[in-house]
Amino acid sequence: MTGFFITIEGPDGAGKSTQVRLLAEYLREKGLEVVVTREPGGTPLAEKIRNLVLDVSEEPVAPVTEVLLYAASRAQHVDQLIKPALQRGAVVISDRFVDSSIAYQGFGRRLGADLVWQVNRPAVGEIMPHLSIILDIEPGQGRRRLARRQQLQQTGPDRLEQEQLVFHHRVREGFLALAKEYPERIKLLSAEGSIDSIHRQIVSLVKEKINAKGMDRD
Ligand code: TYD
Repeated sequence: MTGFFITIEGPDGAGKSTQVRLLAEYLREKGLEVVVTREPGGTPLAEKIRNLVLDVSEEPVAPVTEVLLYAASRAQHVDQLIKPALQRGAVVISDRFVDSSIAYQGFGRRLGADLVWQVNRPAVGEIMPHLSIILDIEPGQGRRRLARRQQLQQTGPDRLEQEQLVFHHRVREGFLALAKEYPERIKLLSAEGSIDSIHRQIVSLVKEKINAKGMDRD
């Protein structure tokens, strides 16, 4: 496996998508093949599962159903998109990956990190990110940012975004616990700075890791 796998994580409203886009532009300018993707989703079948799991419906979704749906979407994503891209030597940037399941289902839904890892092990196999960046934001502020964006785009909150603030506080605890447990892989950045300053911090983390792996073509 010669590629490089980066995941951008964090609560809703942290500005992940903007940072994914800026990072992809930066790396493409360096002449690298960059594959941008997201979870849940990333392949046609995984996107169908995304709709199943995020749609707001009358029927309550059991937490175990939820964790299995995210894992099913991930298994397909890894097998069909992430693994082949890494084998070609590409840089893959995913907006969310397995850490989101630990934070949302493990902590948010209180299924526990152990169970969520167990369910996800067959989905990810040996494909773990070389670098994961968590954009951290206070949940109340994240929610306000999200509401502003959704008002502009005239969209509404999905099923997970509709959860109470206490749920989102648990999710944040989950992300912070992950950053503490895996300090080599996971880097925590405050999402409260300017877009440009967060981008520069991300670039410097990525450069450091890619250089260490010997992939930089500067
Ligand atoms: P996201 O794509 O970030 O939402 P949007 O595109 O609307 O900003 O993620 C969708 C939701 O799914 C988000 O609330 C987090 C949740 N999620 C989980 O609960 N577990 C997971 O494993 C993943 C990948 C996402």
